[in-house]
Amino acid sequence: MRIVSRISELRAAFAEAPSAVRAFVPTMGNLHEGHISLMRQARAQLADSGASDGIVAASVFVNRLQFGPNEDFERYPRTFERDCAALEAGGVDIVFAPEESELYPEPQQYYVDPPPAQKLLEGAFRPDHFRGVATVVLKLFNIVQPQFAFFGKKDYQQLLLIRGMARQLALPVAIVAGETVRDQDGLALSSRNGYLSPAERAEAPRLYRQLCALRETILEHRRSGKTLGAEDYSRIENAAASGLDTHGWKTDYISIRRRSDLQAPASPETDGLVILAASRLGATRLIDNIEL
Ligand code: PAJ
Repeated sequence: MRIVSRISELRAAFAEAPSAVRAFVPTMGNLHEGHISLMRQARAQLADSGASDGIVAASVFVNRLQFGPNEDFERYPRTFERDCAALEAGGVDIVFAPEESELYPEPQQYYVDPPPAQKLLEGAFRPDHFRGVATVVLKLFNIVQPQFAFFGKKDYQQLLLIRGMARQLALPVAIVAGETVRDQDGLALSSRNGYLSPAERAEAPRLYRQLCALRETILEHRRSGKTLGAEDYSRIENAAASGLDTHGWKTDYISIRRRSDLQAPASPETDGLVILAASRLGATRLIDNIEL
């Protein structure tokens, strides 16, 4: 596995195998099994695509542009040596780990401004977050020029906005989604889980349990032939949020939305749904979601 920190080195490495198909997984490091599952999926995709030569590339870069002023940019866990061991074991061929001065040699003044869906859900609590994500992802795509790029459903809104960007800007890359990898107790793996105290870690699986219970409630209504309307949805969303908050959480949102555009479902609803949540346990903000 090669590790490079400069754009020129990365381009030189790709130039050695000009016909190789590239599969790319961008990350911010502090890698866990959720990230590594995307690396394996990238490797499998190359095998499936029938290409005679393929390269799995990963990036490790904590992108300041996507963090708000009061967020955890400075204390975001940086564990590069351990990450490299995991990437190597995960079958990655090349790791791009630039310094901030390499990716942003001058203050970034050109941005990708995602559509209004960037202001929903996460965007309501993290202004400009998705602008920062979309900008760095486009920049990384331009540097790596992958045919395939992999994103986890754990960050559902991010995945949707990146898909939209690739489609509307005609980027020559196929966006592939990976399923959320969870711990045995259901907690979605996240670099931010490391911030949890032991007591908070024991409490944390309630978020996913609550999402599962909410899904069950909706399915139960459907089985009994009931058509849910906007008021029903907001009633069961509120009940789910209170169910967390009575156990010490501070819930930003639990929302039942259409998968296609993250808008509230129409009634009678015909689209696939997803339930998305963000809630704070102590100082740690966790997000999760579940598809119906
Ligand atoms: P990061 O949080 O490091 O996540 C990198 C990728 O791993 C994302 O696509 C994310 O959805 C996926 N991922 C995280 N936890 C996962 C889990 N438990 N199961 C499956 N996939 C999981 O997302 C980012 O970095 C950044 O916003 C980035 C896209 C790199 C741009 O800076």
